[in-house]
Amino acid sequence: MPEITVVAGARPNFMKVAPLLRALKGTPFQVRLVHTGQHYDAAMSEVFFQQLEIPAPDVHLGVGSGRHGQQTARVLELFEEYLIGLQQPPAGVAVVGDVNSTMACTLAAVKLGIPVAHIEAGLRSFDRTMPEEINRVVTDSIASLLLVSEPAGEENLKKEGIAAEKIVYAGNTMIDTLVRQSASADNIDVKQRFGVDRESFALVTLHRPSNVDHEERLKELVEFLLFMAEHLKVIFPVHPRTRARLTATGLAERLRDRVILDEPIGYIENLALMRAAKVVITDSGGMQEETTFLNVPCLTLRAGTERPVTITHGTNTIVGSDLELAKRCFHAILDGVYRRSRPIPGWDGHAAERIAVSLCEAWL
Ligand code: UD1
Repeated sequence: MPEITVVAGARPNFMKVAPLLRALKGTPFQVRLVHTGQHYDAAMSEVFFQQLEIPAPDVHLGVGSGRHGQQTARVLELFEEYLIGLQQPPAGVAVVGDVNSTMACTLAAVKLGIPVAHIEAGLRSFDRTMPEEINRVVTDSIASLLLVSEPAGEENLKKEGIAAEKIVYAGNTMIDTLVRQSASADNIDVKQRFGVDRESFALVTLHRPSNVDHEERLKELVEFLLFMAEHLKVIFPVHPRTRARLTATGLAERLRDRVILDEPIGYIENLALMRAAKVVITDSGGMQEETTFLNVPCLTLRAGTERPVTITHGTNTIVGSDLELAKRCFHAILDGVYRRSRPIPGWDGHAAERIAVSLCEAWL
């Protein structure tokens, strides 16, 4: 039976592989899931497997954290070893998103002559200081099937000279997961679990090195959160990287008692919170898309976005480092004069099924 290897490594990958694994069940492929172990804390990994009903990985590479070169190298070496050790190489490898594991597994497979399909291809922030941008550019330039989640993905790949026959507009697998998990999120009472009423709070997530690794920037962001806390409750589930920086700089103390600091939360809790929030403040990629789908205002604390459809069709505003702009948007949201989102092609809960069809056409 022909085999597909599906790769997942870090938190934002899990919601993308869950629907893919489900859709592949209906194909003649035998599917193996490889977890690289880039994220390993229970709150960053295990909880997503449970909530999203992802089967236990067939293989766990256990790479853990490290500098970029180090982490990428470990994945590359261990995934290559895994592929070489198989009696029969898989018909193809499917990778998702833009984390170090995505690029490293693509490199390993392509160098062994195994074709790679990249899900969420073509996104570009045009900012090569972002590690994810390098991962995207490298992955897309050597993968043989590019499954695109939004219109810009297709345009970017064509501009880069990638042959049209490699590109398929499949839609957004992250939205597949959101649609499927909506009923579970209905079961979460945000008042009971987080002590907040609907639309009475801001939800904050921050983890990008550009925001949290520089003390001055982090300090400004903390002041912005305190400004918001004068108007609304602020809930802030804190990524391990951010937690370490807030503690080291003493800024955690400043937030204490004024902002609700929480551990990283599960997918379903996060979905319940996003749906009920008055506004989401984030530097995540996926949450820009999820808030657009949910029609919840989103202010993105980054210089740009690789997901421009969230601006043209959605509720996202890129505020970058302009916290005065962020305050103006925040007031517009409180006053109820903020824009609403429009539907986006392929954000319909069925992207993974279309991807499964493309994989069958390519590799069977
Ligand atoms: C990675 C992705 C980023 C994604 C983010 C989501 C890359 C280049 N970056 O960034 O695109 O948005 O995941 O979370 O792949 N740590 C733990 N436990 C864990 C994982 C990490 O404590 O389970 C800590 C470690 O101190 C580690 C740090 O977080 O050094 C950063 O982890 P890493 O995987 O390097 O990058 P993220 O910032 O999580």
